[in-house]
Amino acid sequence: MGSWVRAAVMVLAMILLPVMVESKVRNYKFTAVMKNFTRLCASKAMVTIDGKFPGPTLYAREGDQVNVRLVNNVPYNITIHWHGIRQLRTGWSDGPAYITQCPIQPGANYTYSFNATGQRGTLLWHAHITWLRATVHGAIVILPKKGVPYPFPKPDHEKIIVLSEWWRSDADAVMNQWMQTGLPPNVSDAHTINGYPGPVPNCSTSTGYTLHVEPGKTYLLRIINAALNEELFFKIAKHQFTVVEVDACYVKPFKTDTIYIAPGQTTNALFTADQTPGKYVMAISPFMDTIVAIDNQTATATVRYKTTETFTPTTLTTLPAANATPATNSFIESLRSLNSAKYPALVPLKIDNSLLFVAGVGANNCSTCVNGSRVVAGINNVTFVMPDTALLQAHYYNLSGVYTTDFPGNPVTPYNYTGSNPLTNLQVTNGTKVYPLEFNSTVQVVMQGNSVIAPESHPIHLHGFNFFVVGKGLGNFDPVNDPKKFNLVDPVERNTLNIPTAGWTAIRFRADNPGVWFLHCHLEVHTTWGLKMVFLVENGKGPNESIIPPPKDLPTC
Ligand code: C2O
Repeated sequence: MGSWVRAAVMVLAMILLPVMVESKVRNYKFTAVMKNFTRLCASKAMVTIDGKFPGPTLYAREGDQVNVRLVNNVPYNITIHWHGIRQLRTGWSDGPAYITQCPIQPGANYTYSFNATGQRGTLLWHAHITWLRATVHGAIVILPKKGVPYPFPKPDHEKIIVLSEWWRSDADAVMNQWMQTGLPPNVSDAHTINGYPGPVPNCSTSTGYTLHVEPGKTYLLRIINAALNEELFFKIAKHQFTVVEVDACYVKPFKTDTIYIAPGQTTNALFTADQTPGKYVMAISPFMDTIVAIDNQTATATVRYKTTETFTPTTLTTLPAANATPATNSFIESLRSLNSAKYPALVPLKIDNSLLFVAGVGANNCSTCVNGSRVVAGINNVTFVMPDTALLQAHYYNLSGVYTTDFPGNPVTPYNYTGSNPLTNLQVTNGTKVYPLEFNSTVQVVMQGNSVIAPESHPIHLHGFNFFVVGKGLGNFDPVNDPKKFNLVDPVERNTLNIPTAGWTAIRFRADNPGVWFLHCHLEVHTTWGLKMVFLVENGKGPNESIIPPPKDLPTC
């Protein structure tokens, strides 16, 4: 071999070797076990992973292969969803029960295997069956590849902040109440910060979480809203945040003293312990700008400066009112993709599938229910009915009779979605309907809220993809004028959007991931009522454009 060839090989090896060595296989074992927490004053043991609440954190680096063996030692069926992980071609590991897999039964186990390709940041994992995610959830931290810095000043420390809500009774019982009465289920009894509610009425053992900080140091908070049904405001008294990432996508940094975060969303924010050493309240409270009942409890934690001094008393923080819509708007409107050379915003400019999804809550007749009707929800007047075998298997093995491919891409009978409406406009039909998409086609979905029963904001999550939020507005979407105002340059990229109350939000994505992908409201109560649908993305023709074969241990129904 000539010396120049040898030199070239050496150079190539120097470039490739670190990349090859760097990707690791990370093996985790999660065991579902029952556990009772006195700090929560729960009436009985709850379902947890490894006896922890919140559950264990999953760490990986961008590009790593992650395997999680889930062992089910609880008397409930379980599945786990890795919320925001793209699951490129690995839909079998996505997790929603009866969508991509049959549940893991008591005593059984299943290994989820996926790759953290092209992603870095904070995500969450959670149970994806009935209401188990109330207590079965935790953080996913994907660090950048070795040697790749954050596109913002390196923090001194990183902390995970998981926000949640809990019920004294078990969450499944809360859901079953709707089944029987047709009425909305009870709101939660408290909110929690890293599993601690802070002081709670009628629970003397309840305490608050403490975040210890060193004066002058900067912290990266990885904030996760793992609550079932409530959008939240998050604040630390006297301190400002710099938001740098949402849903594991970098954003142009901006400053704020209030973070607005809906269930399923994550926010990375820097804050510096730059105040007089002391104790400062960290607090969360719910956002709800309409008449729907909420859990009004504020959960508190403490940011405590590490010093030898005795501390000044806790400084209280003022949270926005529950109906502070402007605070949510200013947060959402500040979000922009970083859109740098290294992290470009690849917004689809030409659209193959232009869809309008009208989402909302309505009511159906129900003779056995308390008011003669049952609260239901749907998209384009379809309430999604869960199948009793997993859709992905049905698709892969060509089983007929499990789903139909006629989900309406637009409302069948258009009406004034945000006007006052007769209930007949939300007479829903039931069905397990999917919307087919060709591999690599581009999609625009305008998610339009309706006001049939009450206008309400909805956090909508799409599995299997990130999307760009290109526009939002109030009232009915105007297909002629609104697209002219779309941001196609640096719109925020994420996996969970917010439909504003009595308004709409438009997203765009490329259907580059074959499989069946759930789209649903991340308020679990609305998902239960049927506010969900499924995209079926066909295989492509190229070598790496098909779903991989199912794993051997995939549960059966
Ligand atoms: Cu985080 Cu389908 O959910």
